Amino acid sequence: MMSSVVKLNDVSYSYDGTAALTDVSIDIRRGEFVAIVGDNGSGKSTMTRLILGLLKPKHGTVELFGKPISQFKDKSRISYVSQKAASFNSGFPVTVEEVVAMGRYGRLGLFKRLKTEDRSAIRRALETVNMWDFRHRKIGDLSGGQQQRVFIARAMVNQPDLLILDEPTVGVDQKHLKDFYDVLHLLREQTSCTFILVTHDLNVVTNLVTKVIHLDRGSLACDCGLKEYSEIDQLAPSIRPYPVKVLIHEETT
Ligand SMILES: Nc1ncnc2c1ncn2[C@@H]1O[C@H](COP(=O)(O)OP(=O)(O)OP(=O)(O)O)[C@@H](O)[C@H]1O
Ligand SMILES: [Mg+2]
Repeated sequence: MMSSVVKLNDVSYSYDGTAALTDVSIDIRRGEFVAIVGDNGSGKSTMTRLILGLLKPKHGTVELFGKPISQFKDKSRISYVSQKAASFNSGFPVTVEEVVAMGRYGRLGLFKRLKTEDRSAIRRALETVNMWDFRHRKIGDLSGGQQQRVFIARAMVNQPDLLILDEPTVGVDQKHLKDFYDVLHLLREQTSCTFILVTHDLNVVTNLVTKVIHLDRGSLACDCGLKEYSEIDQLAPSIRPYPVKVLIHEETT
């Protein structure tokens, strides 16, 4: 059994008394590709914020890479692309290459002092998302889908062990959606990263997903493989699963 990357033990969270997550326990293991699904307001982003340590549970505990989150210091092992990442205004005066460099150092001022190994890490990340040719372009002049790819490159530049993507395709049109998921396939082939993807598009990632976590009004309605999930209509008629059309891969769990 692969080692644990993210563990939630009976986690509950509420915003000013409004419950957002109730008694949720999950265990995500190394190398998994987990899809988190559920209706708007079901607690998906709250779950990602708890995993990132941006929120503290009201009850229960969070463990990262086998350690209580309070003892986990190596934050560079985890990268995050948020639901609203792609919102640069046109003409924002930073180049694609500089945005990715920020993932390397967290600060733009260091850009001119990048070492050879930094530059090759930046190049590798941009090539993986097919954006190397755009490196001198201003980020604000790119389309939403292209910007999202650059943010993925920034998230990947330190070669994280866990990548969390919260609805990364909001605002991306159908044509570029495919490009975007192709990038996820490439990352999957080229890295041993564990993925957590919040999505409403289960169908476009069916051959990547190893586990589906379905939240229903803050509760865990399902935590299972894709095949079981597609059969849940029969198993638990009260949960309406997101439609899954194709099943390509074999269960790995
Ligand atoms: N900052 C906040 N303050 C108060 N309530 C919040 C806050 N953020 C989220 N909530 C509430 O917590 C619940 C869960 O929200 P959350 O953002 O986790 O849902 P979600 O599944 O990510 O939804 P979406 O699909 O719309 O992104 C919702 O009822 C929401 O209104
Ligand atoms: Mg959300």
